[in-house]
Amino acid sequence: LPANQPYKTSYHFRPPQNWMNDPNGPMYYKGVYHLFYQYNPLGPLFGDIMIWGHSVSYDLINWSHLNPALCPSGSYDVNSCWSGSATILPGNKPFILYTGIDANGNQVQNLAMPENLSDPLLKEWVKFSGNPVMPTPNGVKGDMFRDPTTAWQGPDGRWRVIVGSQIKNKGMAILYRSWDFIRWTMFEHPLYSSEKTGMWECPDFFPVSINGTNGVETSVQNPSVKHVLKISLFSNLHDYYVLGTYDPEMETFSTDTDFEGTSSDLRFDYGKFYASKTFFDSGKNRRILWAWVNESDSTEDAIQKGWSGVQSVPRRIWLDKSGKQLVQWPVEEIETLRGKQVSIHDKKLESGSVVKLSGITASQVDVEVEFELPALEEAEFIDPAQVDPQQLCSDKNASVQSMYGPFGLLTLATEDLTERTAVFFRIFKSPNNYVVLMCSDQSRSSLKKDIDKTAYGAFVNIDPRHEKVSLRSLIDHSIVESFAAGGRTCITARVYPVLTTENEAHIYAFNNGTQSIVISSLNAWSMNKAHLSDSEEESFEL
Ligand code: FRU
Repeated sequence: LPANQPYKTSYHFRPPQNWMNDPNGPMYYKGVYHLFYQYNPLGPLFGDIMIWGHSVSYDLINWSHLNPALCPSGSYDVNSCWSGSATILPGNKPFILYTGIDANGNQVQNLAMPENLSDPLLKEWVKFSGNPVMPTPNGVKGDMFRDPTTAWQGPDGRWRVIVGSQIKNKGMAILYRSWDFIRWTMFEHPLYSSEKTGMWECPDFFPVSINGTNGVETSVQNPSVKHVLKISLFSNLHDYYVLGTYDPEMETFSTDTDFEGTSSDLRFDYGKFYASKTFFDSGKNRRILWAWVNESDSTEDAIQKGWSGVQSVPRRIWLDKSGKQLVQWPVEEIETLRGKQVSIHDKKLESGSVVKLSGITASQVDVEVEFELPALEEAEFIDPAQVDPQQLCSDKNASVQSMYGPFGLLTLATEDLTERTAVFFRIFKSPNNYVVLMCSDQSRSSLKKDIDKTAYGAFVNIDPRHEKVSLRSLIDHSIVESFAAGGRTCITARVYPVLTTENEAHIYAFNNGTQSIVISSLNAWSMNKAHLSDSEEESFEL
């Protein structure tokens, strides 16, 4: 690898080198967090032969890279071990279901189990001799049958799992059931399907508690939970979800909304965030979400860097009080990396102000800020049902002034703001209320050409007359992961500044609206480096 690695993350998970995509089979077992991931051991691009990388951690922050867990070995997976999930069976027995690309190039589902259950690191995995446990079903194309979820057990004791697929033009989650986890039969109808989406990759199906923020185990089924179905759309590389009620007797899932294929569909994250997967952490009674955050630079850049892809910070996920959406927040362990701090309290930001947050390492920051608005009067009018928030963010970037906003943060910025990734808000008047728009604008993030500089945007579900507008951003060299309103709206961006890496990066709070606002509180911390091993040899004491 080249010595100069300005874009390598310091606390976002990534292997020492090469290509990584989806998180696979995350789980907590005997005090250890396991993260597997789609990995090409041979280079920095997606490979013809993909395997399961394997890393372990005691705290979700510092990781040790172990030998790969699954590599092609039998006719049922000779051409790759693709994505899948772990399920912990009664008696604390983890099993992995994953997609194999078989000798004919078809996708099939396979089973693997640990060789030694008393090893908390689960270093060795053994494949079931009867693989595949789910051959490609009749009527399903060989390249449209993949990514089994964590299984759940119904009240009848039978196991269920869904697999992503497409039949004719319908994207769907095919349901399989089994009494013994080995013999699986396809159910007569899919758990859910949609005409509007194309192929579903990496489905995830899990319960969330209606009251409170604790997570629940994947098999929990009672009136105090709702279910979430998440799908990853191959057509646009975005993850979408719906909430609903699962009936394990009829095997139906009645949803509150549908996948419409429009910008009003619910997403975990409105930036880069794909093939996500959750697991229940029985150690802390929470559900944790991981996702692949791919690169926005070019193939040549990947070859030059020698690596591609990072994982989002692990996020706790739960149902919002409204019952209408999910909320996410970085796991608390992230805070152990916080170092030097700067704080601001009750500071008025007049129109046009830019305030530098000095004394911290701006390329590695955790920043939390709360903005207080004046009494809202006339504001620009929009009808949120009629506009695409992402389009609004590219039409009105951080230099376009309105009454309330843009205000927010300028991250990974040069002193003269030539380069900056702006994460900001704008308030509009709507037919019956006010609307808050959140933007993460990459258009000025780098002088470099040939990189994707999309401005991402989404609405934030709060009433700005009664609530402060808050933002947390986790900045880590080439990633800016932002959470508005306590995690109600999240946007993750990949950026590749060139000037800030040669000199120094800076971070600013700003208000470019005509009306002044107040920073009621701001705290920013330099983040220490997590243990992620930069070389294959370097190992971490377990
Ligand atoms: C999603 C995906 C999965 C597949 C894996 C292959 O990014 O395409 O559908 O199993 O990646 O690496």
